[in-house]
Amino acid sequence: HQVVQRSYSVQKSVIRDVMVVGSGLMGTGIAQVVAAAGMNVSLVDRSTKMVDDAKSHMEKSLTKHAQKQFPDEKDKQKTFVEETLSRVRAYNDPCIPAGQADLVIEAIVEHLPSKKDLFHKIDKVAANHTIFTTNTSSLSVGAMAEATERKDRFGGLHFFSPVPVMKLVEVVRIDQTSDDTLESLMSFVKAINKVPIKCKDTRGFIVNRLLIPYTMEAIRMLERGDAAAKDIDTAMKLGAGYKVGPIELTDLTGIDLAKHIGDAWSRDHPNDPVFKPILLIDKMVAEGRIGKKSGKGFYEYADALRGDER
Ligand code: NAI
Repeated sequence: HQVVQRSYSVQKSVIRDVMVVGSGLMGTGIAQVVAAAGMNVSLVDRSTKMVDDAKSHMEKSLTKHAQKQFPDEKDKQKTFVEETLSRVRAYNDPCIPAGQADLVIEAIVEHLPSKKDLFHKIDKVAANHTIFTTNTSSLSVGAMAEATERKDRFGGLHFFSPVPVMKLVEVVRIDQTSDDTLESLMSFVKAINKVPIKCKDTRGFIVNRLLIPYTMEAIRMLERGDAAAKDIDTAMKLGAGYKVGPIELTDLTGIDLAKHIGDAWSRDHPNDPVFKPILLIDKMVAEGRIGKKSGKGFYEYADALRGDER
């Protein structure tokens, strides 16, 4: 009688309970779309007050969506908003709800040691079947998985801002991600009414790997005085069919973010002229001209808005 040793692998799991860590711009949007799709969400930040503030913000966004979804049906709008919000619970410690989560989505500060520390802590209390994911834009997903004992149940779920509006989610697979984990993540993304694409754990995944060199080149063009901001944006909208031009896009996502990403890429690829630092970006950040959210970027704005309120 031969005993067949099988390595542990999670069956493709149905996800009902999701823990989202970080209730900032991305975490709030992610929690909102997950709850709106009918799943329970534990939303975690440093204090429950921060999560409650995030929930007030979510309420406004949900109300707008409900008005579009159920025009002239006030009762339905109200029920949708209330029911969605009732599925989101606030926590100040990820170890409390981690045990009941089927899926963890990390959306805390973009700092590898902080992310590793979080994953290491919750790895000890989460259930065996729980899948861990990160929403990182620029860090190595594999390096985060190193902090856990569940590398086969680890991956990336990269959302785009504003989360309630943007349809795409990049599903990132590291070398150890199991096929079951990958399929569970693909099904989850579809269940929250987004469109998943698969990619490997490489710098910038797909969208940013193509978009960042392109926007950097547009800013260099502006810095050299080859063309004005408005002309560059109009050119790419009418000549290449893009909905938003590269300069206005950078204003929307933030010049501070562009600097953060640009600095990291040039550090990692010092000899690649595509990622050379841009002095104009450094100057703008130093002056506090960080884009639409500050009222001033490459363009000027009458009202300073959060990026997700456009
Ligand atoms: P944010 O600064 O708006 O929010 C981060 C939140 O995490 C804050 O509320 C902070 O209090 C909380 N936090 C920090 N450390 C924590 C910890 N140890 N435990 C619990 N909460 C903690 O940042 P944002 O923009 O939402 O980004 C979050 C992540 O999403 C980052 O990894 C970023 O690279 C990624 N991302 C950002 C995008 C964007 O357009 N802003 C797009 C796609 C990904």
